[in-house]
Amino acid sequence: MSLRPPALPLSTNAPLLKWVDKMAALTRPAAIHWVDGSAAEYDALCAQLVATGTFTKLNEKLWPGCFLARSDPGDVARVEDRTFICSLSKDNAGPTNNWVNPFEMRKKLKEVFTGCMAGRTMYVLPFSMGPVGSPMAQLGVQLTDSPYVVVNTRIMARIGLPVLREIDRGEKRVVPCLHSVGAPLAAGAKDVPWPCNPDKYIVHFPESREIWSYGSGYGGNALLGKKCFALRIASNLARDEGWLAEHMLILGVENPKGEKTYVAAAFPSACGKTNFAMMIPPAHFAAQGWKIWTVGDDIAWLKPDAAGRLRAINPEAGFFGVAPGTSVKTNPNAMASLARHTIFTNVALTPDGGVWWEGMTDTPPAECVDWQGRKWTPALAKETGAKAAHPNSRFTAPAAQCPTIDPDWENPAGVPISAIIFGGRRATTMPLVYQAFNWSAGVYAGATMGSEMTAAAAGTIGQVRRDPMAMLPFCGYHMGDYFRHWISMQKKLTETPRIFHVNWFRKGADGKFLWPGFSENMRVLQWIVARARGRALGQETPIGWVPHHEDLDWAGLDFPREQFTQLQAVDRAAWQKEVLGHEELFIALHDHLPKEMVYERELLICRL
Ligand code: GTP
Ligand code: SPV
Ligand code: MN
Repeated sequence: MSLRPPALPLSTNAPLLKWVDKMAALTRPAAIHWVDGSAAEYDALCAQLVATGTFTKLNEKLWPGCFLARSDPGDVARVEDRTFICSLSKDNAGPTNNWVNPFEMRKKLKEVFTGCMAGRTMYVLPFSMGPVGSPMAQLGVQLTDSPYVVVNTRIMARIGLPVLREIDRGEKRVVPCLHSVGAPLAAGAKDVPWPCNPDKYIVHFPESREIWSYGSGYGGNALLGKKCFALRIASNLARDEGWLAEHMLILGVENPKGEKTYVAAAFPSACGKTNFAMMIPPAHFAAQGWKIWTVGDDIAWLKPDAAGRLRAINPEAGFFGVAPGTSVKTNPNAMASLARHTIFTNVALTPDGGVWWEGMTDTPPAECVDWQGRKWTPALAKETGAKAAHPNSRFTAPAAQCPTIDPDWENPAGVPISAIIFGGRRATTMPLVYQAFNWSAGVYAGATMGSEMTAAAAGTIGQVRRDPMAMLPFCGYHMGDYFRHWISMQKKLTETPRIFHVNWFRKGADGKFLWPGFSENMRVLQWIVARARGRALGQETPIGWVPHHEDLDWAGLDFPREQFTQLQAVDRAAWQKEVLGHEELFIALHDHLPKEMVYERELLICRL
């Protein structure tokens, strides 16, 4: 087949031009489009997506600049069992990653990618993770046949000409990312609104720093700058270069004196990062002058600066947030962020051309069109349990639209981190909050974190699994080596951040959450910040330091002391069982496990 003459390359970088040619020869697109990142280009692509039926334009008065996309029902979340770390040695991927011999995988990928872009346009999408030009930023180019991916990436990352100028300077290595939905179009054939392929491959080659993604157009499978690059490949870079690439939000806490303390927090997918990052303090705190500033909601790159302080940047430029549960009550800042220029995926469409999802309002609309394009009513939901929005439906919104976006969110040098928080979704065992005794005990708390599975990934929802540092699906090398790297970071720091563990999701005997969460998490965060600055009291328990009831500010919340006691309870029998769960993970990782982890576990068992 003959290629149409490619659109003018917008780069002079010879290796990049050669790679684009080579990939075009493999995938055989009908056209090549170099993405300049302009608003005009974005508008044209959105109009094209409306014309092909992928996008529905929302009511311009109610939702200015917003679009709705409905995915294929088989392409709604990350596919962890189809995600591969193809390091040269299997030992480098470790037991928590899927590994295939890279030579075998390359052979397979060549096969599936051959001609896979036929009839489609290949977009050459240059992106920077981190502010363009920041010493902490990293560069990539994604070749994709999905215009949906291009417009989403324009919100989620810095893209286009400024990035190409960085690439042309040739100072930084560029990560090549090849992506196809895996649905070649025969000449004259009519396209479907969401092309994809049931056969999916999300593949990482850590040594050559390459990403190959095939078959999916959804979220972390397809927006390759996010989990594939900023976590799986970046965790490899970080280990080699002495920094950390983490599944963490970053926020700043401003106290009434105007003093700011930044914290980073790792919670697994759909466990509250976006909500915590945008939290609005309860009225009593706000009246005193407490403020929360948002730096990032999903990924943090943390690096020691010249003085040995840990500094963090948010490598992203937008939020790819969970829609269900987001409301003006639970997260007004998210609602403001997504009020305009936002792309919604798999939420419901209301008759007035707006969007809706479970939890957005107390009263559902009388009727709407569900995420699969079918009529939905509250009565139908009662009868069949049908959801209007998919549980993993998402909004893609520009971070700059967040009312609490931190003035320093794009500071190329990042913000200084004083505390690190780990947190899972646990109905039992885990108290609301505790502080680890020191760095290695904190690394242990993060390493042994458990959480109930959510709809963010295909799998069994609700089952507790070990999710070390919320990185189980995202660590691009051996988890045991990752723990060792965390332990070793202390040596590079003059001041180590204090480490905490939280759990917003503990339940009582009635099956209801014991803790109101959301805004009220401020009470816990205030104690965390005070502890990090050495200003608050706590009580020693076998697992770490916890607040006494009177160490938290309860003004404005009627929360009985007994309920707090129940919420903070460290049940020795439950913890002995918990430690057995830690042991299971450690056995799987044994030949790479740093001895600190074994010692910490032994000390914990002794204290219990
Ligand atoms: P990813 O984008 O998948 O990484 O998720 P995330 O960690 O950013 O999770 P998010 O903040 O979107 O929250 C996911 C779900 O948890 C939503 O349904 C929220 O309503 C719910 N949630 C968040 N914070 C709290 C809380 O403090 N308490 C309770 N009970 N639920 C919460
Ligand atoms: C997550 O699953 O942790 C997400 C959504 O943030 S995705 O980008 O699809 O990975
Ligand atoms: Mn995430």
